[in-house]
Amino acid sequence: MTAILLLHGPNLNLLGTREPGVYGSTTLEDINTRVIAAGAERGVEVRCFQSNHEGALVDALHEARLWAAGVVFNPGAYTHTSIALRDAIAGTGLKVVEVHLSNVHAREEFRHKSMLAPVCVGQISGFGWRSYLLGLEAILGYLNGE
Ligand code: DQA
Repeated sequence: MTAILLLHGPNLNLLGTREPGVYGSTTLEDINTRVIAAGAERGVEVRCFQSNHEGALVDALHEARLWAAGVVFNPGAYTHTSIALRDAIAGTGLKVVEVHLSNVHAREEFRHKSMLAPVCVGQISGFGWRSYLLGLEAILGYLNGE
């Protein structure tokens, strides 16, 4: 069975109450439930992990190379700063789709730059919780060569 890692970075554990005008009112648990269900409909296992710590996210990517066919990753603010996560993606060779709830390109200038996008398959940004479903669709299509 194909397995996908759904990986969430810092502050995303606060979804539901965190700046709802920007990120919506859906909780992380709800997002995980929806993506797991969408995966199950396609015969795909989705495993979820969130951390506020950069090193823990690096470790999760290292471990994922042993079992995951691909990754849907919202790196939160580390998107804009983390060479360590970029190197982890490049070093593991994992196929990663970067996702964001908000449209990072329509926000502050410091959010326009992603350190990770150049080593990802692609980026989905601005569709709220649906960005994750689109991310799952995108990584599965990519892995199937569609
Ligand atoms: C975010 C966008 C980032 O700029 C921000 O730091 C986040 C959330 C998003 O999903 O829109 O934490 O990744």
